[in-house]
Amino acid sequence: MRFLTVLMDEHRGFSSMLDVLDAVAGRLERGEPVPMPMLVDVLDFFESFTDRHHDREEEMLFPLLARHGIGPDQTVVSVLVSQHEAGRVYGTKMKKQLKRLQQRDPTAASALAADARAYTELIREHIRIEDEYFYKLADQVLTEAEHASIVEQFSDSPGGRATNPDRERYLKMLETYPAIVAGWCASP
Ligand SMILES: [Fe+2]
Ligand SMILES: [Fe+2]
Repeated sequence: MRFLTVLMDEHRGFSSMLDVLDAVAGRLERGEPVPMPMLVDVLDFFESFTDRHHDREEEMLFPLLARHGIGPDQTVVSVLVSQHEAGRVYGTKMKKQLKRLQQRDPTAASALAADARAYTELIREHIRIEDEYFYKLADQVLTEAEHASIVEQFSDSPGGRATNPDRERYLKMLETYPAIVAGWCASP
């Protein structure tokens, strides 16, 4: 299996959950109720799975690419790293707003919605750059052994082996929340 398959599969999961977060933001913007356990789970999804994916790219993929001359001084890598960093900052901000929302702070819903919109826009653009350009570039320069090593190291990730208990949690969220959001859109 090529590393592209594993990482791009993870991106597909993230994109589905970005749609869910956008739907949640829409309800917050309109002053409509949002199920709190779902909101907690959705933010946890991005922290547990998306941030971890970004951490692994920085720990495994980017150092391998640096050996092939695509290092941190290359514009695209520095953009990707700063997008990872900005994503983590938005994650922290959203969790703070969530706490304020749970404490019934009247300004929290709109602040959380604004951070959520900024986050989904950022991560969608990040995924687009990696899918359409960066991963293809990496695919061309990595050796077969490096491909295998990345797949091995990502294999306990949600896209990897079925024995990973986190994978079950990841798949459950992807099964449950997009369906709930689709129900919101269907209701009059
Ligand atoms: Fe990625
Ligand atoms: Fe990335």
